[in-house]
Amino acid sequence: MSEHPERLYPMNRPAGHVPPIIRYSARFDHAPGHLAVLFVGMAGADDARAEQALGDFLAAAAAAPSAPAYLDRAAFVDAEGRRTVMAALYWPDRDAFGRWVAVPDIAAWRAGQRALAEDLAQWWEPVSTVPERAETIAFAEYRRGLSACPFSRLEEMGETGYWGAARDRIPASGWDRLDGAAVRLAPLAALPAGRGQRLAIRPPTGLTVIRSGVSWAACGAEQRESYERNVRPKLDAGMDYLRENPAETGCPALRQVVLTDAAGQPLEEAYSLGLFLSLHHLETWAKHHPTHLAIYHRAMAERRKYQEALELRTYNEIYVLDGDALDFEYVNCPPSTGLIPYFEARILEAAA
Ligand code: HEM
Repeated sequence: MSEHPERLYPMNRPAGHVPPIIRYSARFDHAPGHLAVLFVGMAGADDARAEQALGDFLAAAAAAPSAPAYLDRAAFVDAEGRRTVMAALYWPDRDAFGRWVAVPDIAAWRAGQRALAEDLAQWWEPVSTVPERAETIAFAEYRRGLSACPFSRLEEMGETGYWGAARDRIPASGWDRLDGAAVRLAPLAALPAGRGQRLAIRPPTGLTVIRSGVSWAACGAEQRESYERNVRPKLDAGMDYLRENPAETGCPALRQVVLTDAAGQPLEEAYSLGLFLSLHHLETWAKHHPTHLAIYHRAMAERRKYQEALELRTYNEIYVLDGDALDFEYVNCPPSTGLIPYFEARILEAAA
């Protein structure tokens, strides 16, 4: 990996800080250039049809050359009250992703051939940035997303358990404030139809994507009860707040999803996929909103209490996009979807 510029901004880590428990970050032995993750979702009037389409897409995705190295599936109910099924797909680098996207079968999916034929809404959000503008935090025995990829290796790290740790884990924060191109989120005066269209939106520099996950699958009765009583209601309230206050929080989209198996059945784990105008917007919510503060302090107290016996598992991965981001695309989507309400879209030709 190339040499980093000299550090301009100090670490937030207090002198002598000892992490409350051991946490890990993903490292890469190859030089990815840009990392590449694709979040793709489908919804329609008929849940079974969307489920089938996603399954067929993932089968095509896995069969194509340069197939994703890792994927997982999830589901949630969108702003229109429809069940959306989705997947997160990971590649070792953007070149591999680019080769996969160029496979004709995949290009047809991307252009919305199936979505238009079956009246499904399909959003396609590739998240691609340099590893210097990304971070992960994971437990060694519970790996999801980027930390679970076969090309990732987990390394113990000390940037955990204090405010500003996430920023410290992003190498570029040493020489870049990681500000966003936009400070405020302003809804567009006129929205595109969305339905029947294929829209492309280039995410602004600095747009910050977080996948923040939790699993209660390994919790015994006591810690499960604590999760259900002390954490889950606050998490739900915090996510409602972000969804209901996009302008105040700088959060154009927040999807709170439950992981599912291949048959669409829910697992005992979930994640929130949030888009923020900048890392600062995300940090502001995390550090100041009472819902996350309550979760954070509770989680810290439980870490100290249970130590190695802690059973709740959490992880996150954060990507701060650079000026070389990939377009987010929306086929046949209601204009409430993703970035559509806030950023000018180009209308692309949809699949025949
Ligand atoms: C079950 C749900 C959650 C729990 C138990 C939880 C708990 C925590 C804990 C313990 C930390 C400190 C991590 C460390 O550095 O060791 C943390 C940090 C953070 N969390 Fe959460 N969290 C949850 C959900 C979320 C969600 C849904 C988001 C965003 C959408 C979020 C955003 C953040 C951010 C940005 C930080 C980094 C703060 C910093 O280092 O300055 N969290 N959370």
